Amino acid sequence: MLKISAGMPQGYTAASPEELAERIGAAKAALGDRLLILGHHYQMDEVMRWADVRGDSFGLSRQAADRGDADLIVFCGVHFMAESADILTGPDQRVILPDLAAGCQMADMADIDQVEAAWDQLGQVVDLERLVPITYMNSTAAIKAFVGRHGGAVCTSSNARAVLSWAIEGAEPRGDKVLFFPDQHLGRNTAVDMGYSLDEMEVWDPFAPSGGLKSEAIAAARFLLWKGHCSVHQRFNVSQIESFRAAHPDGLVIVHPECSHEVVLQADASGSTDAIIRFVDAAAPGTAIGIGTEVHLVKRLADEHPDLEIICLDPEVCPCATMARIDAPHLCWVLEEAVAGRIRNQITVDASTAEWAKVALERMLSIT
Ligand code: 13P
Ligand code: SF4
Repeated sequence: MLKISAGMPQGYTAASPEELAERIGAAKAALGDRLLILGHHYQMDEVMRWADVRGDSFGLSRQAADRGDADLIVFCGVHFMAESADILTGPDQRVILPDLAAGCQMADMADIDQVEAAWDQLGQVVDLERLVPITYMNSTAAIKAFVGRHGGAVCTSSNARAVLSWAIEGAEPRGDKVLFFPDQHLGRNTAVDMGYSLDEMEVWDPFAPSGGLKSEAIAAARFLLWKGHCSVHQRFNVSQIESFRAAHPDGLVIVHPECSHEVVLQADASGSTDAIIRFVDAAAPGTAIGIGTEVHLVKRLADEHPDLEIICLDPEVCPCATMARIDAPHLCWVLEEAVAGRIRNQITVDASTAEWAKVALERMLSIT
C-alpha cells in the first residue's frame, strides 16, 4: 500500500469554525458533482454536516462501489475504509483520507506476516481446503487480499451472519471451519447468534506458539477467533447495563457487536452503527435508550431525538481517537487543494493486493 501525504499548513488549525465552514462550503461547490464526501457515523458533527452520504462501513463501501460518476471521493472515516473504497472504485477515481493518521487500532491487530504464519501452523493440523478465512472489514488491504486468495470473504458488522453462514452452512458450504479476524468479539457474537456454542470456538493468540492452542483444540474448533478487539467497545461492561436498568427500568439497551459477549447477552439488541440508528428511530417517544458504541454517534442521536432519553452506557465516554482525527481543518485543506488541482492524502492500494482484496470484498457484496 502506498501512502501519498504532505503536511497541512498551520493556518488551517488557526482558522475559526465559521471561516472553515465557509471555505469548505465554497470548495465543495467548486468541485460540484466530481466530488463525493462519505461520512462514517462516528465522525464529528463539524465533518458529518458536509457528508453527501452517511453510513456504516458496509453502506459506505457499497456507495463507493456504485458511484462511478464521482472522480474524487473524500472518505471521512478511517484508513481501512478508504482502502476498501479505493479497491472498489475505478482507475480514474481517487480516494482521499483527510488525515493519514486516521487508522484503526483493531485493524492493526492482525498483521499480514502473523496471519501467514498462523495459516502455515494451522495447515499442520487441519485441512486448509476446509478452513475458510473471513476478515472483518476492519482490516488492512493485505489481509483482505489473503482472504480473497484463500477462498474467503470480507464481512462487516451488518452482514457477518450471512457471510459466516455462506462459509460453513447451506447446501454447498465453502468449508467446515472458520478462521475469523481480527475481532474475536464480532466473531463470537455472530457465531452464538447463529446457534453455535462457546465450546465450538477457540481464540488464536498471534503472539503465542501455535496460537496458544493444543492440536486437539484446533482440530475440534468450528471457529478460530483471532485475538483482536476494539479498545473503544471493550470499555462497555455488564455493570454499566445494570446501572442503566436500575435507573431506567423500562429502558432499552443496544450495543455494537464489537462489545464482549457478556455485554451483548445483557443488551436488548446489538447491531452495526446503521442498525443502532434504525433502532433509535423506531423507539416510542419518551423511551430511555442506553447505547454501547462510539460517543459521537450517541451524542448525534441524542441531539436528533429530543423526545427520547439517549444515554451512552460508558460514563467516561471514550471517543474513537482515530476517527476524531478527521476534523474541519483537514477536510477544508484537502478540498481546497483539490480545487487547486493538487490531490493530497490519496489512498492507493497496489494492484496485486487490490486484485485479491477486491475478490474478497465482491464476495461479500454478492452474499449480502
Ligand atoms: P460499522 O460497520 O457498524 O459502522 O462499524 C465500524 C466500526 O469501526 C465500529 O467500531
Ligand atoms: Fe477501529 Fe474501534 Fe475506532 Fe471502530 S471504534 S474504527 S474498531 S478503533
